[in-house]
Amino acid sequence: MTSIAVCPGSFDPITFGHLDIITRGAKVFDQIHVVVLNNSSKSPLFSVEERMELIRQSTKDIPNVVVNSFQGLLVDYAKSIKASAIIRGLRAVSDFEYEMQITSMNRVLEEDIETFFIMTNNQYSFLSSSIVKEVAKYGGNISELVPLPVRDALKEKYTSE
Ligand code: PNS
Repeated sequence: MTSIAVCPGSFDPITFGHLDIITRGAKVFDQIHVVVLNNSSKSPLFSVEERMELIRQSTKDIPNVVVNSFQGLLVDYAKSIKASAIIRGLRAVSDFEYEMQITSMNRVLEEDIETFFIMTNNQYSFLSSSIVKEVAKYGGNISELVPLPVRDALKEKYTSE
Protein backbone atom coordinates (compact mmCIF):
# COMPACT_ATOMS: atom_id res chain seq x y z
CA MET A 1 0.00 0.00 0.00
CA THR A 2 1.31 3.48 -0.88
CA SER A 3 1.87 5.66 2.19
CA ILE A 4 0.66 9.19 1.55
CA ALA A 5 1.21 12.15 3.88
CA VAL A 6 0.09 15.76 3.75
CA CYS A 7 2.48 18.52 4.74
CA PRO A 8 0.15 21.51 5.20
CA GLY A 9 0.94 25.13 5.82
CA SER A 10 0.60 28.74 4.79
CA PHE A 11 4.04 28.67 3.12
CA ASP A 12 4.07 32.45 2.78
CA PRO A 13 6.73 31.87 1.52
CA ILE A 14 8.44 28.48 1.80
CA THR A 15 11.73 28.63 3.75
CA PHE A 16 14.70 26.29 4.21
CA GLY A 17 13.01 25.24 7.47
CA HIS A 18 9.94 23.99 5.55
CA LEU A 19 12.17 22.39 2.95
CA ASP A 20 14.06 20.51 5.67
CA ILE A 21 10.79 19.03 6.99
CA ILE A 22 9.53 18.17 3.48
CA THR A 23 12.84 16.54 2.50
CA ARG A 24 12.93 14.41 5.63
CA GLY A 25 9.24 13.51 5.40
CA ALA A 26 9.74 12.46 1.76
CA LYS A 27 12.24 9.84 2.92
CA VAL A 28 9.64 8.22 5.18
CA PHE A 29 6.46 8.37 3.08
CA ASP A 30 5.98 7.20 -0.50
CA GLN A 31 4.28 10.44 -1.45
CA ILE A 32 4.07 13.83 0.25
CA HIS A 33 1.45 16.41 -0.70
CA VAL A 34 2.71 19.86 0.19
CA VAL A 35 -0.53 21.81 0.42
CA VAL A 36 -1.13 25.53 0.73
CA LEU A 37 -4.08 26.08 3.03
CA ASN A 38 -5.72 29.11 4.51
CA ASN A 39 -4.73 30.12 8.04
CA SER A 40 -7.51 32.51 9.05
CA SER A 41 -5.26 34.38 11.47
CA LYS A 42 -2.75 35.38 8.76
CA SER A 43 -2.84 37.85 5.84
CA PRO A 44 -0.57 36.40 3.18
CA LEU A 45 1.90 38.43 1.14
CA PHE A 46 1.89 35.97 -1.77
CA SER A 47 -1.16 34.65 -3.62
CA VAL A 48 -1.92 30.94 -3.38
CA GLU A 49 -0.66 30.47 -6.97
CA GLU A 50 2.59 32.30 -6.22
CA ARG A 51 3.16 30.24 -3.09
CA MET A 52 2.52 27.00 -4.98
CA GLU A 53 4.90 28.00 -7.74
CA LEU A 54 7.65 28.81 -5.21
CA ILE A 55 7.11 25.44 -3.52
CA ARG A 56 7.25 23.70 -6.92
CA GLN A 57 10.53 25.38 -7.80
CA SER A 58 12.02 24.70 -4.37
CA THR A 59 11.04 20.99 -4.30
CA LYS A 60 11.77 20.16 -7.94
CA ASP A 61 14.53 17.71 -6.95
CA ILE A 62 12.29 15.66 -4.64
CA PRO A 63 10.44 13.26 -6.95
CA ASN A 64 7.73 12.11 -4.52
CA VAL A 65 6.42 15.59 -3.73
CA VAL A 66 3.06 16.79 -5.06
CA VAL A 67 2.22 20.49 -4.69
CA ASN A 68 -1.38 21.55 -4.29
CA SER A 69 -3.73 24.01 -2.57
CA PHE A 70 -7.07 23.58 -0.89
CA GLN A 71 -9.80 25.89 0.30
CA GLY A 72 -11.27 24.12 3.28
CA LEU A 73 -10.38 21.79 6.09
CA LEU A 74 -7.04 20.04 6.05
CA VAL A 75 -8.63 16.71 7.01
CA ASP A 76 -11.03 16.94 4.03
CA TYR A 77 -8.07 17.37 1.70
CA ALA A 78 -6.26 14.49 3.41
CA LYS A 79 -9.31 12.22 3.03
CA SER A 80 -9.74 13.18 -0.63
CA ILE A 81 -6.26 11.85 -1.48
CA LYS A 82 -6.45 8.90 0.96
CA ALA A 83 -3.58 10.24 3.09
CA SER A 84 -2.98 8.41 6.34
CA ALA A 85 -0.76 11.08 7.89
CA ILE A 86 -0.21 14.78 8.43
CA ILE A 87 3.34 16.02 8.89
CA ARG A 88 4.18 19.15 10.84
CA GLY A 89 7.51 20.63 11.83
CA LEU A 90 8.34 21.59 15.41
CA ARG A 91 10.97 24.24 15.95
CA ALA A 92 10.84 24.90 19.66
CA VAL A 93 8.70 24.40 22.75
CA SER A 94 6.88 27.61 21.81
CA ASP A 95 5.35 25.81 18.80
CA PHE A 96 3.97 23.04 20.92
CA GLU A 97 0.78 24.60 22.27
CA TYR A 98 -0.45 25.72 18.86
CA GLU A 99 0.46 22.40 17.28
CA MET A 100 -1.28 20.48 20.04
CA GLN A 101 -4.43 22.52 19.45
CA ILE A 102 -4.58 21.93 15.71
CA THR A 103 -3.60 18.27 16.05
CA SER A 104 -6.34 17.67 18.63
CA MET A 105 -8.88 19.46 16.46
CA ASN A 106 -7.89 17.45 13.41
CA ARG A 107 -8.22 14.26 15.43
CA VAL A 108 -11.73 15.24 16.54
CA LEU A 109 -12.60 15.90 12.90
CA GLU A 110 -10.97 12.73 11.55
CA GLU A 111 -9.60 10.21 14.03
CA ASP A 112 -8.02 7.93 11.44
CA ILE A 113 -5.45 10.46 10.23
CA GLU A 114 -2.32 10.57 12.39
CA THR A 115 -0.19 13.68 12.83
CA PHE A 116 3.57 13.17 12.88
CA PHE A 117 5.99 15.84 14.07
CA ILE A 118 9.48 16.25 12.69
CA MET A 119 11.93 18.32 14.72
CA THR A 120 13.37 21.05 12.55
CA ASN A 121 17.12 20.94 12.16
CA ASN A 122 18.67 23.17 14.90
CA GLN A 123 20.09 25.36 12.19
CA TYR A 124 16.53 26.48 11.32
CA SER A 125 14.94 26.54 14.77
CA PHE A 126 14.63 30.35 14.72
CA LEU A 127 13.34 30.53 11.16
CA SER A 128 9.80 31.51 10.14
CA SER A 129 8.23 32.96 7.01
CA SER A 130 7.35 36.10 9.00
CA ILE A 131 10.91 36.76 10.11
CA VAL A 132 12.15 36.21 6.55
CA LYS A 133 9.63 38.74 5.21
CA GLU A 134 10.67 41.25 7.84
CA VAL A 135 14.37 40.94 6.96
CA ALA A 136 13.65 40.98 3.20
CA LYS A 137 11.46 44.05 3.53
CA TYR A 138 14.35 46.07 4.90
CA GLY A 139 16.89 44.70 2.43
CA GLY A 140 18.66 42.24 4.75
CA ASN A 141 20.49 39.16 3.47
CA ILE A 142 18.16 36.14 3.37
CA SER A 143 20.30 33.85 1.21
CA GLU A 144 20.83 31.37 4.08
CA LEU A 145 17.14 31.32 4.90
CA VAL A 146 15.19 30.66 1.69
CA PRO A 147 15.70 29.00 -1.71
CA LEU A 148 16.85 31.27 -4.55
CA PRO A 149 13.44 31.58 -6.30
CA VAL A 150 11.94 32.76 -3.01
CA ARG A 151 14.71 35.30 -2.53
CA ASP A 152 14.03 36.69 -6.00
CA ALA A 153 10.27 36.73 -5.45
CA LEU A 154 10.63 38.61 -2.16
CA LYS A 155 12.97 41.12 -3.74
CA GLU A 156 10.46 41.74 -6.50
CA LYS A 157 7.55 42.08 -4.06
CA TYR A 158 9.30 44.61 -1.89
CA THR A 159 10.82 46.67 -4.69
CA SER A 160 7.49 46.93 -6.54
CA GLU A 161 5.67 48.15 -3.41
O1 PNS B 1 1.88 27.37 8.29
P1 PNS B 1 0.73 27.52 9.26
O2 PNS B 1 0.07 28.87 9.09
O3 PNS B 1 1.13 27.26 10.68
O4 PNS B 1 -0.33 26.39 8.85
C1 PNS B 1 -1.58 26.31 9.52
C2 PNS B 1 -2.57 25.55 8.65
C3 PNS B 1 -2.75 26.25 7.31
C4 PNS B 1 -2.06 24.14 8.42
C5 PNS B 1 -3.94 25.47 9.43
O5 PNS B 1 -4.37 26.78 9.67
C6 PNS B 1 -5.00 24.69 8.65
O6 PNS B 1 -4.98 23.47 8.69
N1 PNS B 1 -5.89 25.42 7.94
C7 PNS B 1 -6.94 24.79 7.16
C8 PNS B 1 -8.28 24.87 7.90
C9 PNS B 1 -8.39 23.75 8.93
O7 PNS B 1 -8.35 22.57 8.62
N2 PNS B 1 -8.59 24.13 10.21
C10 PNS B 1 -8.78 23.16 11.29
C11 PNS B 1 -7.51 22.81 11.99
S1 PNS B 1 -6.86 24.22 12.82
